[in-house]
Amino acid sequence: MDMFVVEGGRRLTGLARPGGAKNAVLPIMAAVLAADGPLQLSGVPDLTDVRTLGQLLASLGVTVERQPEGLLLAVSDSSLVVADYELVRTMRASICVLGPLLARRRRACVSLPGGCNIGHRPIDLHLKGLAALGADIRVERGYVIAEADRLRGATVYLGGPRGSTVTGTCNVMTAATLAEGTTTIEAAACEPEVVDLGECLNRMGADIEGLGTPQLVIHGVSELGGTSYRVIPDRIEVATLIIAAAITGSEIELDPVRVAHLGAVLDILRSTGVEFDVTGSSEEYSHQRLHVTAPARLRATEITSLPYPGVPTDVQAQLMALLCLADGTSVVTDRVFPDRFLHAAELIRMGAQIHREGSSAVISGVPRLSGANVMASDLRASAALVLAALSARGRSVVRRIYHLDRGYERLDEKLNRLHASISRVADPLGTGSAGPPHWIEPSATLAGLD
Ligand code: EPU
Repeated sequence: MDMFVVEGGRRLTGLARPGGAKNAVLPIMAAVLAADGPLQLSGVPDLTDVRTLGQLLASLGVTVERQPEGLLLAVSDSSLVVADYELVRTMRASICVLGPLLARRRRACVSLPGGCNIGHRPIDLHLKGLAALGADIRVERGYVIAEADRLRGATVYLGGPRGSTVTGTCNVMTAATLAEGTTTIEAAACEPEVVDLGECLNRMGADIEGLGTPQLVIHGVSELGGTSYRVIPDRIEVATLIIAAAITGSEIELDPVRVAHLGAVLDILRSTGVEFDVTGSSEEYSHQRLHVTAPARLRATEITSLPYPGVPTDVQAQLMALLCLADGTSVVTDRVFPDRFLHAAELIRMGAQIHREGSSAVISGVPRLSGANVMASDLRASAALVLAALSARGRSVVRRIYHLDRGYERLDEKLNRLHASISRVADPLGTGSAGPPHWIEPSATLAGLD
């Protein structure tokens, strides 16, 4: 098991290149199960989650060929319908095979994913949506078993107590593309990753209207073909890199970026004092290059994570790390995953002042964090700890970075290209438990920030 050793206090500079969006590429990969032709994807990040889904798809009869920056997927055996617990338990997003499997193979047995560190994550809305399309659904021995000779279009309401569901919308939308008649999804998720899946499905021959709005109208077609598709840039990785610049008082550039996907994040960061300049991208006309300039000290603010177009819950932890250093008192509330605060205790170990109050955290900004041994609990929490370590005085050790590698493509290398100092080394403890104090070097010098 690897860990990061981060020498904090360096200013970042240069150009960072964000990869394709993890949460778009996963349901798009799964959509091959509903297709009769190959799917050629580009802009695919090299992530553990992408490899895990590749393995799961291979176990479902899909040939998966990794290409430079891309994937070629094609169904070679459509008789397989069981998504096994051993793979599904390592990645919740595996549930996105349920809709396409059911729609094309008429039967799906998908393991229930199990517990999650960011809070309670039911799939009742996925099942409700598929049942509305006529699927017979039961849960047996830890597996969802869904069957339907032919799905039929229906009106489905996918709103839940915390808004819509991203992967639930992906599942029902993909299944409905092959249903007989028209499906209307009310309270659909509007996240750019859902739109990206919908656009890819339309390229495959689907007929989906209303992408990016809460009402999707899907006219069923008899089959989906193959296509080539380029995945959107990862807005969460972009936000994480922007916060890396902000937390170190730096000036960097990011390219390619879809600024339209970042409205709430840029607005919040502007209110703290970060400045942005947008120019055309060198990559594609619909992408931009973003110039980020951060002051030495930021202002405190209030943040509430909400479904898109609100502040994404997937940036809540990174923003919390940033606000630990802002001038004044900040409040961070997570309305999507109200218990997603495991990173707060680790930030406190670095000198942050955070008090939890229900689904909110109240943060009194301190002028400086100090390097410490910390432990990642989930993907975005790991990113928050790396960001805090970049700004901290001295050396930090971030353990359990396998969480980070699930969703960030070599973040250490990307940050080092911006002149951070992050070493990836084997964890001598292996288990990820709190490390020996000799990793901390209080006398480590601070470059740049002082
Ligand atoms: N919910 C229900 N019932 C359901 C499904 C969801 O009540 O059937 C609730 C959840 O408990 C949660 C809220 O609805 O409170 C939103 O959950 P959603 O289903 O939208 O989450 P998800 O689809 O499981 C995706 C991302 C997450 C991201 C959330 C919210 C993927 C693969 N995962 O999860 O990404 O946090 O949407 O935006 O797309 C991450 O990348 O770190 C990550 C966790």
